[in-house]
Amino acid sequence: GAAVKVNISKVEAGQQMIAEWRGQPVFIVRRTEEILGNLGKIHDRMADPESQASVQPAYVDKVNRSIKPEILVLVGICTHLGCSPSFRPEVAPADLGPEWVGGYFCPCHGSRYDLAGRVYKAQPAPLNLQVPPHSYESDDVIVIG
Ligand code: FES
Repeated sequence: GAAVKVNISKVEAGQQMIAEWRGQPVFIVRRTEEILGNLGKIHDRMADPESQASVQPAYVDKVNRSIKPEILVLVGICTHLGCSPSFRPEVAPADLGPEWVGGYFCPCHGSRYDLAGRVYKAQPAPLNLQVPPHSYESDDVIVIG
């Protein structure tokens, strides 16, 4: 039980909303073509680019880590020690460097993830952010759990 229905119709392109499932934050991002294109450019910099060791349902694409390419759903808990990473969608902000193309930054020990929840190489966090079980009730409604 304890599945959660989330209406995602108000999530704008390039933005995130945060739902809650089992007491955990769930990040839902509407990815743009630009974001999806950038994932390919940094593929080689990821620790587990095809999510071989990471946790996600069998039905999600292991690179985009989603059912529909444009909608990303992640458990918002760092795989290091459980802080909640910050959404940093901007490209090349001053504090994250010129190669940053947007993603998640964990404030506790600095782990960096891309906008598929894939962790960069050589971070404190060992694995990609978890993708929770989810399905679509309609184009606008996701069922998490
Ligand atoms: Fe996120 Fe340590 S808890 S880097």
